[in-house]
Amino acid sequence: MTDTVHINTRIRRNAETLSEALESHMMKVFAPDARKELRRFSAGEAAELLGISTSFLRKLHFDSKIVEVHTSPGGRRHYSAEDLLEIRRTLEATAKTRGAYQRGRREGDKLQVLSFLNFKGGSGKTTSAIHAAQRLALKGYRVLCVDIDPQASLTTLFGYRPEYDFLNSGTIYDAIRYDDPVPMADVIQKTFFTGIDLAPGGLMLQEFEHETPQALLNNTQPPFFARLATSLQDVEENYDVVIFDCPPQLGYLTMSALCASTSVLITVVPNMLDVASMSQFLQMSADLLDVVSNAGASMEFDFLRFLINRYEPNDGPQQQVLSFLRQLFDEEVMVAPMLKSTAISDAGLTHQTIYEVDRSQFHRSTYDRAVDSLNLVNDEIESMIQKAWGR
Ligand SMILES: Nc1ncnc2c1ncn2[C@@H]1O[C@H](COP(=O)(O)OP(=O)(O)O)[C@@H](O)[C@H]1O
Ligand SMILES: [Mg+2]
Repeated sequence: MTDTVHINTRIRRNAETLSEALESHMMKVFAPDARKELRRFSAGEAAELLGISTSFLRKLHFDSKIVEVHTSPGGRRHYSAEDLLEIRRTLEATAKTRGAYQRGRREGDKLQVLSFLNFKGGSGKTTSAIHAAQRLALKGYRVLCVDIDPQASLTTLFGYRPEYDFLNSGTIYDAIRYDDPVPMADVIQKTFFTGIDLAPGGLMLQEFEHETPQALLNNTQPPFFARLATSLQDVEENYDVVIFDCPPQLGYLTMSALCASTSVLITVVPNMLDVASMSQFLQMSADLLDVVSNAGASMEFDFLRFLINRYEPNDGPQQQVLSFLRQLFDEEVMVAPMLKSTAISDAGLTHQTIYEVDRSQFHRSTYDRAVDSLNLVNDEIESMIQKAWGR
């Protein structure tokens, strides 16, 4: 008995200490006047993103074919994300084949809605979701990120403080709640990252899990599985790609995201424990999806892929698990794995991604290895999107 009281008091004290420390950390990382800002990109990075050579890029400048960009005293050019969009427009206008530089959605192409999913926390849903969103945005796609995790890590990565900025309102919950939902457009925020908008997440989302059983009894329309899809319809013409960062559980929110999705990426760490837990996850998903599709949800996916995360190529057991997965699931396992990298986790410590940090902050080879691996993964995702559009 005394032990119980003791532990409660201690946990409460720990909670308070932690909360204070986090608050001061947050104030440091995100001082109110220190909003995140997107860095400029080097000529090499710009050329890579545009899909042209650096010499061609130089020639375009020499011939005054494209906008002039910020140039350092030493004569190096630096490109903002807006510059890249502008250059894309210019190049596309004179390109021989349509869509060579502007690869977004055309008339008749269906909005691509990707869910990053797994009920294992820490399998890299948020990390892979945000890197995919950023790479696609830098390649000129119009991206909407939707954070449906009450823990709101994705929202935090965009420089918001969910527990201050959206404590009572302003999250995607407002758009899907059963009483008085607002249009999705009302909760969407422009972000510091050109080309990405965000529907923020936050603790309020937990209400959706609590309220759904009653809403089902009352037969409130639309039902839980159709609520994200319905509210997305409002804004879908503004985007090429929507990315859902799902919570680490198979609740109503996740089911609603799945029903709004055209494709699913299941993040998996190649070790036996994670694979065993994923097997359970797949079984439960299949059962639940049966229930909702019987209730009338449409469940046609363009693609479902396993995204291998935290891969260590020199780890024998991991290699075995990966080849086991490839044997079982064949082409459903993405070709490119996301490597385990301290550059990814270190960037995460300051709420940044690999695409945001400056190369000089890292060991060159560590940084390059991480970027190369993420680019391969995200470009594979891009090509699946292009394929879904029939290109
Ligand atoms: N490939 C990776 N290499 C190193 N660290 C990673 C990698 N992927 C994710 N992490 C780190 O692992 C932690 C959990 O990842 P996260 O994406 O938040 O998982 P989830 O959203 O599935 O809970 C984060 O701190 C993140 O920086
Ligand atoms: Mg997450």
